[in-house]
Amino acid sequence: MKISYESMSLPNDRDRLVNFLASEDWPFHVNLRLSKDKVLKMIDEKTFDGSNHECFWILNEDNTEIGFIRLFDLDDVDDGYPLFDLRIRAANRGQGIGKSTVQWLTKYLFEKHPKLEKIAGTTRSDNIAMRKTFLACGFVKEGHYRKDWSSSNGECFDTVKYAILREDWETGVTTPVNWNDEG
Ligand SMILES: CC(C)(COP(=O)(O)OP(=O)(O)OC[C@H]1O[C@@H](n2cnc3c(N)ncnc32)[C@H](O)[C@@H]1OP(=O)(O)O)[C@@H](O)C(=O)NCCC(=O)NCCS
Repeated sequence: MKISYESMSLPNDRDRLVNFLASEDWPFHVNLRLSKDKVLKMIDEKTFDGSNHECFWILNEDNTEIGFIRLFDLDDVDDGYPLFDLRIRAANRGQGIGKSTVQWLTKYLFEKHPKLEKIAGTTRSDNIAMRKTFLACGFVKEGHYRKDWSSSNGECFDTVKYAILREDWETGVTTPVNWNDEG
């Protein structure tokens, strides 16, 4: 499937965003289901815009929204690194869109911010599709946090964190994490 990316802008895309996020369940997120009111509250709370965030639609050939990217912690670009959230509609998962999108956003961020050295993402430890997506895109597991991710039903999961370094992205060579540094 040919996909493209379009910048999401508020307030223009307000209804589009509310309809998209409230239209289906989002597994592996803290809020499995987002009501329209909840999305409106998130918009009011500046979850999607301002200097700290940048969002994109993932569109199919018909220009229909099949996914959504939220880049956040962009205020840390000069002295840290951004994170991202990625949501692909259930009907469009498992078709390579996650991998294409993480490759796209990695290139986008490194090219837009020449001094940026690292991009990271976190997910629930049982989110196998997202973990495979990170690995396929050159991200390396850097952190594992036990009983860290509260879910809607009260269950607590481990969180895993993956990141990619600019030098690894440029060279295609993965720098391993030094896990054996305690003698
Ligand atoms: C996680 C998500 C972004 C992955 O995107 P996707 O388009 O479904 O994934 P892709 O088709 O690009 O596949 C990526 C890898 O995951 C694997 N995969 C895909 N769906 C899978 C599943 N249900 N179970 C296990 N592995 C799966 C693919 O085989 C591929 O692995 P490979 O490189 O070893 O072949 C997408 O499934 C999604 O939006 N899920 C719901 C929301 C979510 O979990 N977002 C992430 C929050 S951080």
